[in-house]
Amino acid sequence: MNQMITEAKELAQEYLKNAYAPYSNFKVAAIVIGENAYYAGVNIENASYGLTNCAERNALFNAIGAGEKPGSLKQLVIYTDTDTITTPCGACRQVMQELMSVDGEIYMFCRNDSKKMTIRELLPSDFNKEKLK
Ligand code: THU
Repeated sequence: MNQMITEAKELAQEYLKNAYAPYSNFKVAAIVIGENAYYAGVNIENASYGLTNCAERNALFNAIGAGEKPGSLKQLVIYTDTDTITTPCGACRQVMQELMSVDGEIYMFCRNDSKKMTIRELLPSDFNKEKLK
């Protein structure tokens, strides 16, 4: 595992405490590795459940809002304090496909396990901006 991924995982572990998940009690933290910085996101739930935002999308929106170029983000790290890894939801995969690079990599970590997948593997038949042309 390269140094940046290890650092991002440790950062995600620190950010996990900021997750606001009083309904599911399932905390998720995500770190996007940008050109010169890391961008964090945690899941933030809401009493009207449908307004919940996942950690992955919060991290990606944070990165783009800070000036990272859409389509350029290469790596995103997810951490959950669980026994099994958490694979991202469909909505987050669609947003990853739009905002990360075509060869973007997703690293999923839990207490004692990890897995790396490409966006292509996570979302093989996507709807994307090319379809709008
Ligand atoms: N959640 C994430 O933040 N990321 C995932 O990859 C899976 C699910 C959140 C949404 C909700 O707050 C809680 O986890 C349970 O679904």
